[in-house]
Amino acid sequence: MTQTTPENQVRRQRAQIKVRTLRTDSWWLAPLLTFLGLSSFLVYGFWAIFDGSYFVDPYIAPFSSPCLATSCTEGARFLGLTPFGDWYTLPPGLLILGLPGGFRLTCYYYRKSYYRAFWLSPSACAVQEPHGKYTGETRFPLIFQNIHRYFFYLALVIGGVLTYDAILALIHKPLGVGTWLLILNAVLIFAYTLGCHSCRHITAGRLNHFSRHPVRYKAWTIVSKLNAKHQQLAWASMFSVMGADLYVRLVAKGIILFPYA
Ligand code: FES
Repeated sequence: MTQTTPENQVRRQRAQIKVRTLRTDSWWLAPLLTFLGLSSFLVYGFWAIFDGSYFVDPYIAPFSSPCLATSCTEGARFLGLTPFGDWYTLPPGLLILGLPGGFRLTCYYYRKSYYRAFWLSPSACAVQEPHGKYTGETRFPLIFQNIHRYFFYLALVIGGVLTYDAILALIHKPLGVGTWLLILNAVLIFAYTLGCHSCRHITAGRLNHFSRHPVRYKAWTIVSKLNAKHQQLAWASMFSVMGADLYVRLVAKGIILFPYA
């Protein structure tokens, strides 16, 4: 066992450097871009949730799907279901916001990015953080980041619903721009979701012999390839969901006109 001596106590302290960092490259650029990108997503999402133009046949905006409230526009209800009854009068998008939102909020990649961009904890490697101490994710509230795996299962359901919406659009308007935006979005959402670290563990975690589990091994190799691109897919799917959502709303508002939509 290591003895606590004055020497190794000194070794455990941080380097005593007076400036915030000795780095001379543009280390601040990545956290700044992340801050701007994630902030724009939050602002757009907040606006979209309260915007009433989320459906124009056969398109439904992804931020409001599945539409499960009684107040959902005629034709927008997912499979005709209204499990929340008449008492629910808030925007339908609020009902499901927590599922994809919680999934992204607890994602390992997004955690790294917003810890750096919003909490400066630290903003980049070898850059001093403003916080006095580091407690990691072992205590309340950050210990709740560990529920990410459960959000993964819920995100699969949301991915299935968005795929269903895209297929409906394809059946009713195969040449519509909106149809192909919804399809692209569903593909990117699934690529991001299946590349999740939890999914990688689910496919092949706790296996001692890949040779005895060829199907799981195959699944793991596919998931691992997506996992290697998880950061890129996180951004691509974030912009695709915003782009498809905005497009449907602009069509629903009559700003983009139908023959070309
Ligand atoms: Fe990013 Fe699971 S680690 S979605």
